[in-house]
Amino acid sequence: MAAPGGARRQPLLLLLLAGFLHSASAVFTVRDVNGTACIMANFSATFLTNYNTKSGFKNVSFDLPSNAKVLNSSSCGKENASDPTLMIAFGGGHTLTLNFTRNATRYSVQMMSFVYNLADTQIFPNASSKEIKTVESITDIMADINKKYRCVSSNQIHMNNVTVTFRDATIQAYLSNNSFSKEETRCEQDEPFPTVLPTSYHPSPSPPHPSPSPIPESPSVYKYNVSGANGTCLLASMGLQLNITYKKKDGTAVTRVFNINPNKTHVSGSCTDQLVTLELQSESSTFLVFQFGMNASSSRFFLQEIQLNTTLPDARDPNFRAANSSLRALQATMGNSYKCNAEEHIWVTEAFSVNVFKVWVQAFQVEGDKFGSVEECQLDENNMLIPIAVGGALAGLVLIVLIAYLIGRKRSHAGYQTI
Ligand SMILES: *[C@@H]1O[C@H](CO)[C@@H](O)[C@H](O)[C@H]1NC(C)=O
Ligand SMILES: *[C@@H]1O[C@H](CO)[C@@H](O)[C@H](O)[C@H]1NC(C)=O
Ligand SMILES: *[C@@H]1O[C@H](CO)[C@@H](O)[C@H](O)[C@H]1NC(C)=O
Ligand SMILES: *[C@@H]1O[C@H](CO)[C@@H](O)[C@H](O)[C@H]1NC(C)=O
Ligand SMILES: *[C@@H]1O[C@H](CO)[C@@H](O)[C@H](O)[C@H]1NC(C)=O
Ligand SMILES: *[C@@H]1O[C@H](CO)[C@@H](O)[C@H](O)[C@H]1NC(C)=O
Ligand SMILES: *[C@@H]1O[C@H](CO)[C@@H](O)[C@H](O)[C@H]1NC(C)=O
Ligand SMILES: *[C@@H]1O[C@H](CO)[C@@H](O)[C@H](O)[C@H]1NC(C)=O
Ligand SMILES: *[C@@H]1O[C@H](CO)[C@@H](O)[C@H](O)[C@H]1NC(C)=O
Ligand SMILES: *[C@@H]1O[C@H](CO)[C@@H](O)[C@H](O)[C@H]1NC(C)=O
Ligand SMILES: *[C@@H]1O[C@H](CO)[C@@H](O)[C@H](O)[C@H]1NC(C)=O
Ligand SMILES: *[C@@H]1O[C@H](CO)[C@@H](O)[C@H](O)[C@H]1NC(C)=O
Repeated sequence: MAAPGGARRQPLLLLLLAGFLHSASAVFTVRDVNGTACIMANFSATFLTNYNTKSGFKNVSFDLPSNAKVLNSSSCGKENASDPTLMIAFGGGHTLTLNFTRNATRYSVQMMSFVYNLADTQIFPNASSKEIKTVESITDIMADINKKYRCVSSNQIHMNNVTVTFRDATIQAYLSNNSFSKEETRCEQDEPFPTVLPTSYHPSPSPPHPSPSPIPESPSVYKYNVSGANGTCLLASMGLQLNITYKKKDGTAVTRVFNINPNKTHVSGSCTDQLVTLELQSESSTFLVFQFGMNASSSRFFLQEIQLNTTLPDARDPNFRAANSSLRALQATMGNSYKCNAEEHIWVTEAFSVNVFKVWVQAFQVEGDKFGSVEECQLDENNMLIPIAVGGALAGLVLIVLIAYLIGRKRSHAGYQTI
């Protein structure tokens, strides 16, 4: 039954090349007979494995060299019959293979395999055996159709005794355009920032593309409450966004805005007489702390400290930290609540600010887990003033027109009489 299909499939496995022996570029491209690219991949990879020698097992680590090349047994696949495959060869007979598959919405590297030749004495000196070994594994590399897979962080794929670590990877299969798409699907490893919105920061008078800069999506508003032995000491409902300016590996400065996704954040905190602490920890390595203090003599509470500790995978210094303990934000009288519908920017350091959306907060004294009387922020009051001012101006205008009309009528009457 399968024979006719299998026989037909062989000559139709149309493949091809690119990748030159002395290739400086690490971009691997697979093209069909017509020269149309169907797979492109740009990544660095490190292999870690062990092998047997006379003196026992030895660990070895080696990088995918820059002269690795695409094998002509790579293939763009044949619709429904086979899937596209990228095969990369290097050194003394080692081959890394990525087999792709897709459905209506997504594509993935369904299977990765690595064939290594223990006879390669450069990588495996004194190996007891000269055999060729094959390992394989499914992977988590996947992206939306017509988007590139992007993963700045390292992504490890374990294939039996071989672990391959991908870094700074851009991969796309089922290409429609002979090049990477502009749109990307980020890997999970790059979180906590699934909604990375890069914005050019450095003095560039006009952006290279006329496309409008992306408007950051607002963060989800969430209830971040904290309770202690004496009950609730913090009621807070807000959306949080981090605005971080940092230097990338190549030295250019970028400003990025990251939304806190409450669904992926662990909320904790503590209550004391003098301090209310709210701690947010996202599943991967972002640690954000808000500390509320109070002034007993004026009987007011306020946000006095923000601390951030996070990792930025593409930064020159990936560990980013910022703190400021002399803030005076989100203030209200004890027992009352502070509310602001307008977006507020709280500057923590020169490189870091927190944008707070639709905040409603009350610290220390909370009666019956309900917000007390609202103290509206200045921004909202100013926003309220505009309609009042406009309304007032309109009323004034109507009055002036009316007076002018009445005067005009009187004058014309008078004029009529004199004629
Ligand atoms: C190559 O081009 C020819 C003519 O344009 C077309 O009929 C054929 O389907 C193309 N093949 C592939 C694999 O795209
Ligand atoms: C490949 O990736 C490296 C590292 O991100 C980047 O510098 C280079 O420009 C990329 N090359 C292409 C052709 O996209
Ligand atoms: C090789 O690596 C494994 C796991 O990383 C480790 O447990 C082992 O001790 C290492 N062996 C040698 C000889 O370094
Ligand atoms: C692939 O390359 C090998 C040698 O590297 C060559 O013998 C073979 O003909 C090539 N196959 C195709 C289909 O180009
Ligand atoms: C491939 O499969 C899809 C649905 O699974 C079908 O619509 C399409 O006609 C098939 N193409 C070929 C060449 O068999
Ligand atoms: C990958 O795809 C190639 C070509 O379709 C096939 O020969 C090979 O068996 C596949 N490998 C795995 C591990 O699925
Ligand atoms: C496509 O695959 C993805 C991931 O495996 C899955 O979540 C999605 O539901 C699939 N879509 C369709 C239309 O089958
Ligand atoms: C994997 O490594 C262990 C020793 O760390 C060894 O006993 C085993 O044979 C190796 N397996 C393969 C498939 O190489
Ligand atoms: C982020 O901060 C920079 C200054 O560091 C500022 O110019 C920019 O407007 C801020 N963006 C947002 C969305 O808050
Ligand atoms: C968080 O989860 C809720 C309910 O599960 C969902 O409605 C909401 O869209 C999610 N928000 C985000 C940002 O994923
Ligand atoms: C709890 O309430 C008691 C009595 O009012 C007070 O002495 C104590 O300091 C409070 N503890 C905290 C953590 O607020
Ligand atoms: C910040 O992160 C670094 C590295 O992960 C860690 O060593 C340090 O203890 C963290 N600091 C705080 C305040 O969490």
